[in-house]
Amino acid sequence: MTAVEPTQAEAAKPLTPEMVAEIRRLCDRYPDRRAVVLPALHVVHQRWRMVPRSAVVEIAELLGLAPAEVQDTLSFYGFFKQDRPHGVVRAWVCRSISCALRGGDGLLERLCELAGTRPGEPSRDGALTVEAAECLGACEHAPCVLANETLYRSVDPEEAVELFRKLRQQAALEEGSEAAPEGASAGEAHEE
Ligand code: FES
Repeated sequence: MTAVEPTQAEAAKPLTPEMVAEIRRLCDRYPDRRAVVLPALHVVHQRWRMVPRSAVVEIAELLGLAPAEVQDTLSFYGFFKQDRPHGVVRAWVCRSISCALRGGDGLLERLCELAGTRPGEPSRDGALTVEAAECLGACEHAPCVLANETLYRSVDPEEAVELFRKLRQQAALEEGSEAAPEGASAGEAHEE
């Protein structure tokens, strides 16, 4: 399993024509080009699971801004990856108070151990990135994990191995749907 990573050519010019069109559409919806920076970063990040530096330059050119302005916005948010893509599944493990009291920290640690990686870094096969999250808004189901669009609720930290298995399975399915031809139905948000 490999993460969708821009090829060398794509990394040199990472904005596809579709992305450029989408960013141009965004420009019509915002009164100020600076306000488009954040949604534009999301457009790129959603496709590549990262925003290469070359994309920062391209976005800046498109919006008529200095690359430093785009880079500033990017680096302000811990959400955006820049050096390498996050895993096919990005699993946010809540460690805010309700989840922490019910073993959220231990769960994060155990999932990283199983993935053979550290928080925020992708597993070697690119399938999974496990990260600490602040409150996911589902405190009554603590501890919980948001993996892409799927919320795993009331996870028993003792069953981290089972959750890890589900996350791997989810990654295999989602990678398959990424490769699906245009028009094929993508997975819908749901809860486990
Ligand atoms: S504290 Fe974990 S979802 Fe709110």
